[in-house]
Amino acid sequence: MRADELLRRYLEQRRELGEQELVLDGLSVDDVMRLIGAGRPKSASDTAVGANWRDSLRAAGAVESTPLADMPAATSPSPIADRGIIDLPPGIVVGTDARELFGGDLSRCQTIDDVAALVRACTRCDLHRTAKNPVPGEGSPHARLVCVGEAPGASEDETGRPFVGQAGQLLTKILEAIKLSRDDVFIVNVLKHRPPGNRNPRPDEVDACRPYLVRQLEIIRPTVIIALGTFAAQALLETKLSIGKLRGAIHRYHGIPVVVTYHPAALLRNPAWKRPTWEDVQLARRLLDGAIAVPPP
Ligand code: URA
Ligand code: URA
Repeated sequence: MRADELLRRYLEQRRELGEQELVLDGLSVDDVMRLIGAGRPKSASDTAVGANWRDSLRAAGAVESTPLADMPAATSPSPIADRGIIDLPPGIVVGTDARELFGGDLSRCQTIDDVAALVRACTRCDLHRTAKNPVPGEGSPHARLVCVGEAPGASEDETGRPFVGQAGQLLTKILEAIKLSRDDVFIVNVLKHRPPGNRNPRPDEVDACRPYLVRQLEIIRPTVIIALGTFAAQALLETKLSIGKLRGAIHRYHGIPVVVTYHPAALLRNPAWKRPTWEDVQLARRLLDGAIAVPPP
């Protein structure tokens, strides 16, 4: 049997056992090779197989190329929970912590409901023409954690509520893992109307919609923001850096600490990202608990 085939079977088995992240995080490539009986490459011609293995593992998400890559094998509590802030790379800083960012109608919005009313009437871009319902966001106006996603999908468009589809159910579980219910937090997207067929949001749509998110964050003034996935992270932090580069640091958005993690929909496609996501939300939890200091901007 080909090495890749063996590896695939091995990974599937671990997934069925529900523990593949733990297992893979604790193993080196050589460990996995020994486990499936591949041994070390003996000759130069075998090295190609070795490299292939490494690529396969990486493609399977088992080898992280993130700042958290060097973490020891899974222990409890999470290694990151014990990390001092000094160990984290510096994050991106967007804006100052001054409260008022926008003038006009939005600055007159004093409550989350005021913002939602403006979102419902919004015609700033064309997405309202094709969307069934606006999805302004929901949760506690006093939330200490705000989760920011990308844009409504089909289920959200039907219901007018954020993260209620499959990805949303996973988000609910992720929140439960850090002892939070959906009612404790505020869940919102960068875009408030669904892009047709879930196409990627366009820059002009983001620019049109961004003031609502900013005002929501101003009103709620959470202790921590979690950016879910590449799109939310890049939109909030005004960067093109990849999610791998953005994870594992504490960024600041107008003074509010931002933790970046994978989008729950991406986790559904790639369960090997669950473990790093767990690390990320533990970091958010530690910030909420005041257990780690926020680096100065
Ligand atoms: N994906 C998102 O980014 N947001 C939702 O509300 C649902 C899915
Ligand atoms: N790509 C995405 O869009 N989101 C993730 O979280 C990871 C990869």
